[in-house]
Amino acid sequence: MKFFIDTANLDEIRKFKAMGLLDGVTTNPSLAAKEGKIDFRKLIADICAVVQGPVSAEVISTEADQMFAEAEELSAISEHVVIKLPTIPEGIKALVRCVEAGIKTNMTLVFQPVQALIVGRIGATYVSPFLGRLDDIGQDSMEVLAAIRQIYDNYDFATQILAASLRHPLHVVQAATIGADVATIPPNVLDKLLNHPLTDIGLERFLADWKKIKA
Ligand code: G3P
Repeated sequence: MKFFIDTANLDEIRKFKAMGLLDGVTTNPSLAAKEGKIDFRKLIADICAVVQGPVSAEVISTEADQMFAEAEELSAISEHVVIKLPTIPEGIKALVRCVEAGIKTNMTLVFQPVQALIVGRIGATYVSPFLGRLDDIGQDSMEVLAAIRQIYDNYDFATQILAASLRHPLHVVQAATIGADVATIPPNVLDKLLNHPLTDIGLERFLADWKKIKA
């Protein structure tokens, strides 16, 4: 399973890139807004330069022609840019045009398997089920993810399943167990993946014992 980071923060991206943990990045308008008053296109260019892998940038229009115009403009920033489109009827129309134009896409705000079936048939590059937000409303997100995996395997769809809205390490493990192609992981969860108290306690003990040998 590939690891993407779910942030627009360049420092976090650099930090986890240096650890060899990043294959790509996903951003969205809320994550971009956290960075304050920024030049979004420059930020995406900078992220692409660091990551050298897929970087999702989301359109903000809600009408297909404008979405496609935004998609053309954003994808011209770098070969690494992937256009995030909302999975609404106008977004699907924009997806068809992006597929025809060879523009890479990430269909976002997916909450049920049939939405994934639709975008997989059309040929989206990625589909992003938002797992944490389903759990938030008392639905079993992993049932949804498993159904999408099954559908894509049934029909050999090339669309990659990008598990999104991950809130804790267990989500990452569950997504990998089901066979998501990618997990996009927020920085605070990436930090948690790297920490285990028994590892820290064990290391402390090894180092303390080593001191005894030297003494
Ligand atoms: O990539 C989508 C993700 O950012 C949504 O996460 O935590 O806002 O549900 P969250």
